[in-house]
Parts: sequence; C-alpha cells; structure tokens
Amino acid sequence: MAQEVRGVVARGKGAPVSVETIIVPDPGPGETVVQVQACGVCHTDLHYREGSINDDFPFLLGHEAAGIVEAVGDGVTEIRPGDFVILNWRAVCGECRSCRRGRPWYCFNTLNATQKMTLTDHTELTPALGIGAFAEKTLVAAGQATKVNPAAKPEAAGLLGCGVMAGIGAAMLTGNVQPGDTVAVFGCGGVGDAAIVGARLAGARTVIAVDLDDAKLAIAKEFGATHTVNAGAGDPVEAVRELTDGFGADVCIEAVGRPEVMKQAFFARDLAGTLVQVGVPDPTMSIALPMIEFFGRGGALKPSWYGDCLPSRDFPMLIDLYLQGRLDLDRFVTETISLDDVEEAFRKMERGEVLRSVVTI
Ligand SMILES: NC(=O)c1ccc[n+]([C@@H]2O[C@H](COP(=O)([O-])OP(=O)(O)OC[C@H]3O[C@@H](n4cnc5c(N)ncnc54)[C@H](O)[C@@H]3O)[C@@H](O)[C@H]2O)c1
Ligand SMILES: [Zn+2]
Ligand SMILES: [Zn+2]
Repeated sequence: MAQEVRGVVARGKGAPVSVETIIVPDPGPGETVVQVQACGVCHTDLHYREGSINDDFPFLLGHEAAGIVEAVGDGVTEIRPGDFVILNWRAVCGECRSCRRGRPWYCFNTLNATQKMTLTDHTELTPALGIGAFAEKTLVAAGQATKVNPAAKPEAAGLLGCGVMAGIGAAMLTGNVQPGDTVAVFGCGGVGDAAIVGARLAGARTVIAVDLDDAKLAIAKEFGATHTVNAGAGDPVEAVRELTDGFGADVCIEAVGRPEVMKQAFFARDLAGTLVQVGVPDPTMSIALPMIEFFGRGGALKPSWYGDCLPSRDFPMLIDLYLQGRLDLDRFVTETISLDDVEEAFRKMERGEVLRSVVTI
C-alpha cells in the first residue's frame, strides 16, 4: 500500500522549501522503496529550488543519501529488504550506445523509478536527480540503490552519492592521477577537497590546494593537500609553477565552475598535462583561448560528470577504504540537521560556512 511520509518540497522558483506530506507508492517492477537515514545538502538542490535546472516544479529535493531497503518490486535481484544502500544518479541502462561500447560510466539513458511520488492532492513530484531523498522514504529504480557494508555511518556514506564521489572520481578516474604525479585543485569546497583526497589515494606526490578563502585552505590541508595557494594573494598560475619545479602540475582540477578559474587551471598545467573540469558553469559562461596555446601545450581537457564513477564498482570499494581508515568521509560532515532545517542549510552553504550539512532521519 502507498505510504504517506514527510519530504522537503520546492514548490516554485526561489520560494523557500517546505516540509510536506508526500505519497510514496509501493515499488513496481525494477523499483525499490528505501527508508532514508541520511541525506547531504548539495548545491544542486539549491539550483533546483532556484529554477536554474528546469521548470518541473514541485521538486522533491535531496540526492546524496544512504538508507535501508524497505521493499523491492518484481524482478529485483541485486538488493533485498534490510540491505544498507547508497543512492546514486547513475543506474546504467546497459543498452544505450555508450553502454554498448563498454563505457557505462557515460551511460546516456540512466534509469529512474517509473512510478511517480506525489503530494496528497496527487500533484506529481519531480525528484532531484531522480532521487528525492530529503524524505523519510523514497522510491527509486533498483539500480539507483547500491549495496555497501552496513558498518559505515549513513551520514558519511551518503556523501559518496554525489559531491564526494564527483571529486574523488575527478582525480582518480577522469584525471587518471598516477603515483608520483603533481596535482593542483582549484576550489576547495566539498568537491575540491574530495579531489584532494582522490589525488592522495592515487599516490600523487604533490597536491596543491588553491582557494580564495584561508579557512578553506586550512581544511584542505587537513584533507591531505601538501601545499596551499591563496588565489587572491597573487597569480595562482605562477604559484603552482613555483611549487612544481617551474613546470606546472600534471593534473589540474577546476572545482569551482568559473571561467577565470578554468583558465588558471589550463595554464597551470605542465606540458601534456590534463585539465579536469568538475565545477559546473552556468549557461552564460564562456572562455576564449589562443588556439596555439591549446595546441602547443598538448595534453587533455576533460569534463567530469559525476567523477566518471560506476556506483556498483566504486561505492563498495570506497566504503571499504573508509572502514579501514584510509578515506576520511566523516570530515566532510560539518553538521547533522533535521528535515525542517534544509532552508537554513542553504543559507549556510551560500555563506561558505559548511562543507556539508547532512539531514539525518
Ligand atoms: N561534475 C559533477 O558531477 C559535479 C557533482 C557535484 C558538484 N559539482 C560542482 O562542483 C562545484 C563545487 O562544488 P562544492 O560543493 O565544492 O562547492 P563549494 O561552494 O562548497 O566550493 C567552492 C569553493 O571554491 C572557492 N572559490 C570560489 N571562487 C574561487 C576562485 N576564483 N578561485 C579559487 N577558489 C574559488 C570557494 O571559496 C569554495 O571553497 C560546483 O560547481 C558544483 O555544482 C559537480
Ligand atoms: Zn546506458
Ligand atoms: Zn549533488
């Protein structure tokens, strides 16, 4: 039977979010209902509520989540009731042209639940990134729920569902950081700090954190940056060169989403170096570069969607590293809050006061 639970809904462009009663249907074929235990507050939730992603209001926000499988629909074999899962927005279809070419991490047709969650007046909700996990329970495609070791704390594990995976993957998977590489990360919020962690895990010998905010740089050091550069205190390109024997870094990661930062990351590379863009720009932004610089510097410029991750492969592995003390996910959790505090958490995020506020239920 369909259930009524509480969830955080954005009803209109720019309007504050509200906690509403929502209706969660029983899982149909290929679907699962997950009892949410924790869900991080990500910039993308705020983008939805500001109307900058699309106009499909009302949105059910929240997408960085972990919880317990309550029920599964017909044909679901990978997960069972009682399993501890992290939700993901890359349930690969196995059939699109990218999956068929053996590149499922780019899957062009990722799966979501077929049925809709609704308000009590039957208005259909659009779940953020096909998840909608600022709610006591949510309905997703079974492939969006990845089983991991239940010893992990939900508030830490859930963060792998979006920003932290995007950052780790930007370094390890998109950037393909190798042992001994030099790496510079531009922007040290949750995503940039996760890129620093990913670069360390991959064996980078130098990891340079670049930000405008000294407090963010201090945290970046705690995450393993070997050097820090305040981009407001001088030319960050020169500073990165100086810290890399005058050459530039092998891999530069842009984790802000701004054209001037992307340019800095482009020029701070060594010859044949890689530029990874994980920060999301807005549609008005553009950059201009002399073609000779593009050609003459060689290497690769690579956007990173969700860190090029494959949740079924990467989430269980990263949770194991976390449980072994080799990946500090707890440090990303600045505070735990309730469903009623999401709007206030957006304010703190805008003021740059938190890496992650995490709703616990
Ligand atoms: N590609 C993906 O799949 C993916 C997934 C999740 C998030 N993101 C994006 O990653 C970006 C970062 O997310 P976040 O949660 O870490 O954001 P955040 O706001 O917490 O962090 C941004 C950091 O950049 C710093 N900054 C701002 N301007 C700067 C400048 N000119 N030079 C250097 N540093 C500067 C800020 O001080 C802050 O520390 C966002 O654009 C977000 O949308 C991408
Ligand atoms: Zn596919
Ligand atoms: Zn997110």
